[in-house]
Amino acid sequence: MVDFARQIREDFGRFMMEYQFAVNEVLTKVTILQEEFRHLHRYNPIEHVSSRVKTPESILEKVARRKIAPTLPSIRANITDIAGIRITCAFKADTYRILDALTTQQDVRVVVVKDYIAEPKPNGYKSLHAIVEVPVFLSTGAVPVIVEVQIRTIAMDFWASLEHKIFYKYDGEVPDHLASELTAAADAAAHLDARMEQLHAEVHGPAGPRAEPVPRLDDELLQRLWDLSRPEEPSGP
Ligand code: GTP
Ligand code: MG
Repeated sequence: MVDFARQIREDFGRFMMEYQFAVNEVLTKVTILQEEFRHLHRYNPIEHVSSRVKTPESILEKVARRKIAPTLPSIRANITDIAGIRITCAFKADTYRILDALTTQQDVRVVVVKDYIAEPKPNGYKSLHAIVEVPVFLSTGAVPVIVEVQIRTIAMDFWASLEHKIFYKYDGEVPDHLASELTAAADAAAHLDARMEQLHAEVHGPAGPRAEPVPRLDDELLQRLWDLSRPEEPSGP
């Protein structure tokens, strides 16, 4: 019995660890995209990134609610949000740009993309959701792990965070008069997104700051970089 308990603890610990590693891998991908964007275009499309691995309690609660077989293979196959990453972007155009940059990577397998920006949920919820699979390289080999990536603008995030706080207790059954207030608030958030994006386009041009040339390095710095890149000259008489 003790051995059995130890085995379960070990298997479950390993199971959870794989999801944490997958989160780390996707976070690295996001950081690289962010840094590269900043470097190439002097523009940061990502405002904020957060991540979490579902707690064992929350996994078991979902297993019971969805009547999923309580085995690790079945949980792996049926619960796709054990590893979750949320990327908050400046503008709507950035959300699609980031989704594209992530999902076209060679080692990222896209399971499904749900575009709740083009087709918001009835309550007004907007976001891009991508369920992806990334390889996690363990000492025993690579294992594919599922990660849920949510990408949204600051305004969409503002709405979703507060909606969750305010309406959590209704569990989807929000009274009509409150539901219409909620969708009205979502419309206001979308309006704000559109206005800010338009302002941004007015200031930086329709293509955004990406159209701006990278500023020239000053001559002295250029000379120093040039010196650095030349092979050392033999010294001596
Ligand atoms: P689960 O709720 O995880 O069982 O999701 P699902 O399989 O129905 O997928 P869906 O893409 O609808 O939602 C996944 C996640 O998106 C949720 O866990 C939330 O984080 C977020 N989400 C979806 N709908 C809403 C919403 O109406 N309000 C808020 N605040 N978040 C939402
Ligand atoms: Mg979820």
